[in-house]
Amino acid sequence: MKYDGLDATALSARLGAPNCVALERVTSTLDIIHQLAEDGAPHGTLVLADEQVKGRGRQSHYWHSPRGSGVWLGSLLRPAAPVEGGVLAIRAGICLVRALADLDVVAKLKWPNDIMVHDRKLAGILCEARWSGQQVLWVALGIGINVHGPLPREIADRAIALDEVLPGIGRLKVLDALMPWLRGLADRPTLGEHECFEFGRCDWLAGRPVLEPVAGTAQGIDRDGALLVETLEGIERVVGGTIVTA
Ligand code: BTN
Repeated sequence: MKYDGLDATALSARLGAPNCVALERVTSTLDIIHQLAEDGAPHGTLVLADEQVKGRGRQSHYWHSPRGSGVWLGSLLRPAAPVEGGVLAIRAGICLVRALADLDVVAKLKWPNDIMVHDRKLAGILCEARWSGQQVLWVALGIGINVHGPLPREIADRAIALDEVLPGIGRLKVLDALMPWLRGLADRPTLGEHECFEFGRCDWLAGRPVLEPVAGTAQGIDRDGALLVETLEGIERVVGGTIVTA
């Protein structure tokens, strides 16, 4: 199958992935990554699909992934040292913000994994790890980017497609910008000082009142990728759940 005119070999060469699989229709690119990982595929294996019929997001949400309209990407990471999915998701989000900046699009990162443009969600990230005891066997990193609109009416007020701000943009151009930043994603177990600083510059929640999962004011993240919320009792770390703002 060809993905925007390129076969798997041409995609691997262009995107610098050791192994690339391009598929027309899948349940989820994450499912394909888990299968390939079980079969021994190498770190950096990339799966791109035209369409996902069971695309998934955080907390079992459905991820709308119609044919040809976005980048529905799965990437296989085999971290050398244990690394939390939360750290990887934040790091991947920073990579996406950098890639969008390279395309002259200003994006914000809403903890933990929403990429926001004009206060609407452009992209999301989902990491699924498989463990053997204390050892992480692999992580399937999933990235979904809405590239071509129009989006369905039910989500159009809170989601955005990239071609609304970059008319004529194509999926390959998005991947060209993103893939170099994703290299080395799993090299370090915690976020570095510079990554926290970069997060701070694009932090959509910073200073906003948060109602749930704890009430307070968002105050950035720590090196483990936890959200810091200043509450009446002091700073609380939030590691999961859905953030509800006032
Ligand atoms: C979220 O915002 O909740 C995360 C959305 C992640 C969607 C991507 S699309 C490619 C990969 N395959 C999936 O089924 N999900 C991720």
